[in-house]
Amino acid sequence: MDASSDMIAPALLDWYDRHARALPWRAPPHTPPPDPYRVWLSEVMLQQTTVAAVTSYFAAFTARWPTVEALAAADDEDVMAAWAGLGYYARARNLLACARAVAALGRFPDSEGELRQLPGLGAYTAAAVAAIAFGRRAVVVDANVERVVSRLFAIVEPLPGARAAIRAATDAITPDARAGDFAQAMMDLGATVCSPRGPRCLLCPLADACRARAMGEPERFPVKPAKAAKPERIGRAFWIERDGAVWLVRRPGKGMLGGMRALPDDGWHARADGSGTPPLAGAWDAGGIVRHGFTHFSLELHLALYSGRDWASLRADEGAWWSIDRLEEAGLPTLFAKAARIAIAGR
Ligand code: ADE
Repeated sequence: MDASSDMIAPALLDWYDRHARALPWRAPPHTPPPDPYRVWLSEVMLQQTTVAAVTSYFAAFTARWPTVEALAAADDEDVMAAWAGLGYYARARNLLACARAVAALGRFPDSEGELRQLPGLGAYTAAAVAAIAFGRRAVVVDANVERVVSRLFAIVEPLPGARAAIRAATDAITPDARAGDFAQAMMDLGATVCSPRGPRCLLCPLADACRARAMGEPERFPVKPAKAAKPERIGRAFWIERDGAVWLVRRPGKGMLGGMRALPDDGWHARADGSGTPPLAGAWDAGGIVRHGFTHFSLELHLALYSGRDWASLRADEGAWWSIDRLEEAGLPTLFAKAARIAIAGR
């Protein structure tokens, strides 16, 4: 670390005082910290999801469940449905487990170590909540911070191996005071100035200290590992309609889209020709194809439309009829919402 490292936090905090984004879960600089519940909820929502996508969900959740106690008392199904569209559904299941643990404790713990003990609360979230809601010094590293810090120090090791060095460098520049503002300033800088492509170095308060900029190639950092091709899966989803209603199932609690309402499907890994077994024997028509990217694979989902009238073997313990007029309220994850739109458009 060179002499200019000492100047990084003051320069960044000064920039944040003038340019902090006004976001609904934040307290502006130099005002009392925000409600830990709102900080925690926003940080869980913001993992792998953009501020733009989170904002309306955050408003809906806090209007419906204004406190962690209210969320703890919610029905699992209501929370899963309200989460629909945000993706990474394990977060919603963990969210509930954590809300219930906090409600049982009677308060949010106020240190990183105790926060880390809560169910589903990872290292990032514990550090972010400790710093932002409780003013604790904590080292907060998300993807934005990774980019900013790997550029500042021109860390040439590729991700994910570089994470230890990035963390150590972030630790070295994190101030004792205003650690929450510092973390959010890094995030704002990463989101608005130090962007993945076309960073706006002329506007950057840290430009003078930035080694990647001095090298003339900020976009080279963070160095990415050679990319393995994403595996592809093929599957089928089944649209079974009767008297203006569609048959929906609840997916098992664990696994992809766990706990979410869904169209029945064949498990998506089955046969490469997309001919997995339907839930009813009889006549099926091809209804179109939905492509959807998950983190570790991409899926080509073939929609099959039931044209028979023999619904008797559908089991009430496996699913239920849902009015198509009210399908918006079913809380289908994006993959199945896309499939449903295709089916409805083709009716
Ligand atoms: N991304 C994750 N947490 C954030 C926060 N508190 N502010 C802005 N972007 C974020």
